[in-house]
Amino acid sequence: MRKVLYLLLLILSFSACKSQKNASLVDNNSFKPGALWHDSDSMHINAHGGGILFYNDTYYWFGEHKISGRRGNSAQVGVSCYSSKDLYNWKNEGVALAVSEDPESDIVRGSVIERPKVIFNKKNNQFVMWFHLELKDQGYDAARTAVAVSNTITGPYEFLYSVRPNAETWPINQPEIVNKSFENNLEGWTPEWRKAVDEGMFVKRDFKGGQMSRDMTLFVDDDGTAYHIHSAEENLTLNISELNEDYTGFTGKWLRIFPMGHNEAPALFKRNGRYFMITSGCTGWDPNAARLMSADSIMGEWTYHGNPAVGENADITFDSQSTYVIKVDGYEDAYIFMGDRWRPRNPIDGRYVWLPIEFENELPVIKYHDEWDLSVFNK
Ligand code: GAL
Repeated sequence: MRKVLYLLLLILSFSACKSQKNASLVDNNSFKPGALWHDSDSMHINAHGGGILFYNDTYYWFGEHKISGRRGNSAQVGVSCYSSKDLYNWKNEGVALAVSEDPESDIVRGSVIERPKVIFNKKNNQFVMWFHLELKDQGYDAARTAVAVSNTITGPYEFLYSVRPNAETWPINQPEIVNKSFENNLEGWTPEWRKAVDEGMFVKRDFKGGQMSRDMTLFVDDDGTAYHIHSAEENLTLNISELNEDYTGFTGKWLRIFPMGHNEAPALFKRNGRYFMITSGCTGWDPNAARLMSADSIMGEWTYHGNPAVGENADITFDSQSTYVIKVDGYEDAYIFMGDRWRPRNPIDGRYVWLPIEFENELPVIKYHDEWDLSVFNK
């Protein structure tokens, strides 16, 4: 009997010890924009320029893994993944896509990997990651997008290829560009040059090699069609490009929107059948005023609405730049604006600015809150 009791005690204390070990040191129950955000290991979350995939009742956050010092602006590790049930508390799931050690690889350590987004393809049960890729030691000149796949959500993702999209195809909304001729050597930023860019000068220039693709996001529509939205034409114009059935390539159906509009950091979402896009202007790592666009069909016409941010510091989007909009599960009409507060001198210290989106006259509005939680939304 004694022996049995002793054994029972031993088992009990062992499992108590184990559950203590598993218990997270961190218990977040609100969002604090711009504050250090600790994961379940008490480390500041390292997933910048990120996006969220909701899968099997869990949110997965993919983002740029940054290190300290200027070198941290290039990819030294890869793309991180975190998981959460409640959006406040995040568990580090490790590196989903690792940089390569092969100097011949497009994603060699020291290349630039930005704004990774992952979508799930229901047809073949595959997870597909796209990200902005700049080749090593070429600054931001390569302007490519790249794709990687995995059969498990947390990875490891296998890198497939990088590309400038839509080579040898014309935008569906401006096929006439094919017949346009543009003067060579126009001086930049003159009215003639602006007009030429507006009319498709860079589309024609990049026709053979593919359109530039820098800041980007992905969007899967209700019918399962996926789109890749990217800054093209030296960041002057946004392109919306349809992805093929397995989401790993382009169909060649694409749209050119807001030529000369200078939009970056696109984040697209759908509400009550209407598409909304939040973007930023182009001031590098420095924040500027967000922009809002909407459309009844993803392939346009898109309408411009101005800055969705209101109140103090709205002109710098509360010191942040858009990266994604989360649709919150289990709540009515609940969307979260996800932004980055960049720290280019010490990128690992970059902060996250998550704010609830309100709707006024059917248009998204973003207001600042020092601290907030999901109770702002209706169940
Ligand atoms: C930002 C862009 C970031 C990064 C940065 C580099 O405008 O949104 O993703 O590319 O420029 O300067």
